[in-house]
Amino acid sequence: MIKVEQLYKYFKQVKALDGISFEVKKGELFGLLGPNGAGKTTTVRIISTLIPPTKGQVEINGYFLPKDAAIIRNFIGYVPQALSSDGTLTGYENLLIFAKLVGLNRSEREKQINELVELMGIGDFVDRLVREYSGGMVRKLEIAQALLHNPKVLLLDEPTVGLDPASRRSVWDVLKTLQEKYDSTILLTTHYMEEAEALCDRIAIMDHGKIVIIGTPKEIMEQAGVETLEDAFIVLTGHEAEEGGNFNELKRVRKTARRLQ
Ligand SMILES: Nc1ncnc2c1ncn2[C@@H]1O[C@H](COP(=O)(O)OP(=O)(O)OP(=O)(O)O)[C@@H](O)[C@H]1O
Ligand SMILES: [Mg+2]
Repeated sequence: MIKVEQLYKYFKQVKALDGISFEVKKGELFGLLGPNGAGKTTTVRIISTLIPPTKGQVEINGYFLPKDAAIIRNFIGYVPQALSSDGTLTGYENLLIFAKLVGLNRSEREKQINELVELMGIGDFVDRLVREYSGGMVRKLEIAQALLHNPKVLLLDEPTVGLDPASRRSVWDVLKTLQEKYDSTILLTTHYMEEAEALCDRIAIMDHGKIVIIGTPKEIMEQAGVETLEDAFIVLTGHEAEEGGNFNELKRVRKTARRLQ
């Protein structure tokens, strides 16, 4: 469904992506795993048509970027790392705005919103202001927003950052349901090793703009000869995942925590 070949992205001197290639199959839940600055967000932004690559090819469902960007936008949904719901509106109002933006007519809007509210399990809160939601509820609302036009492919950038363990699990459940019931193809980024292990069919471990290894969590651990992905990361990259990224990490988690209050 997604095929990325020899993708490069430079921001002036910074090589954010240094020639990465990977494929995501139809119906697969694929994770880009890596520490701060690895290039995860840059990859997702390119695939979601937001920024152009410096070099390389991206094919989605048989269409190519940048040529077919307008067509591709019709069948991808994108949940960014930053907040995409308005806290001063209710969940329903947020969904209504997005439904109008993607061009659904009145009856389609009602049907889609009701279905997604049910699917995400946010029915009890949909008429409350989003600023009163817990972090997990906000994430589920944002996922619903991204699904209003029935995309084949869902892209999520750090969907569970800053969430408590229970909320994180409820977001995992929602993504699993999407995959199992709706055959959605899901590409997500995460820097949580245990999230990648629990949730993803296959993972690409990224580090400094490169892909270090691609495989199922089990294959990766076997290849590295260790019992956890955390250890596999250290064996394969020669350093710990948290090294060097602490300030950014803190800043981001705090920002996320603040926006979710
Ligand atoms: N717009 C930009 N201008 C300049 N440099 C950028 C820009 N966006 C990203 N970078 C740099 O590119 C590299 C990859 O960044 P990216 O955001 O893709 O990493 P990431 O894996 O998503 O990290 P994080 O876990 O912190 O979200 C980093 O060195 C980052 O500083
Ligand atoms: Mg990022």
